[in-house]
Amino acid sequence: MDQPDKIKTPDFSHITSEDLNHIYEPSEDSFLLIDALEKDLAFIRERGPSLCLEVGTGSGVVITALGSILGSQCHYIGTDINPRACSITQQTGRANGVDIETVRTDLVAEVIDRVRGSIDLLLFNPPYVVTPSEEVGQGDLEYTWAGGVKGREVLDRLLPSVDALLSPKGLFYLLVLKENDPEEIVSIMDSRGFSCECIMRRRTGPENLLVLRFSRK
Ligand SMILES: C[S@@+](CC[C@H](N)C(=O)[O-])C[C@H]1O[C@@H](n2cnc3c(N)ncnc32)[C@H](O)[C@@H]1O
Repeated sequence: MDQPDKIKTPDFSHITSEDLNHIYEPSEDSFLLIDALEKDLAFIRERGPSLCLEVGTGSGVVITALGSILGSQCHYIGTDINPRACSITQQTGRANGVDIETVRTDLVAEVIDRVRGSIDLLLFNPPYVVTPSEEVGQGDLEYTWAGGVKGREVLDRLLPSVDALLSPKGLFYLLVLKENDPEEIVSIMDSRGFSCECIMRRRTGPENLLVLRFSRK
């Protein structure tokens, strides 16, 4: 039987306006990442992923979208620094029939030891807005967008762990903004043994967004 090749936007109608005072509302960047995963679906399926980790799940729409198309062949783990985001991610998963294990942690600190070398799909839509460093991590909503210098202060703390996380066939999907200096990110990852492909780019209002896919050379 043919497998579906379109990813359905998850139902997130359970998220209240009060929740949105604390967590990231599914936005253009979230949907661009979902669109990039849809575009890359055949490539993803070829690799037969069995473990997926999203860092910074927010509402959980991205990992839920992926889970609803790949199904239970894959185990889904989501982390977020914000406990409310973890709980809403679980709700979003449940509302769409996707079982997601959530872990409240800074990036991957609480999971890395048990998932070392076994993540087939790693996803991150980081807080990418260029801000003064002091704004990074100042509160639930600042966590969602404030990226500090070059909008890279949170992302740059994850990059050194990618090699330890990914399985030999692992893929890392990363959403970035032009101001984040994607060329420099590609060069950092190149020096760590990863090649990069730009899967999608989109201009939304003032933002120039790109989705990069890294894999081992
Ligand atoms: C731009 S939002 C993306 C949310 C969701 N993935 C999406 O695409 O809609 C960034 C997310 O990263 C989380 N975050 C920020 N800093 C983090 C950290 N140090 N560790 C874990 N999660 C973090 C935020 O709480 C927020 O949910």
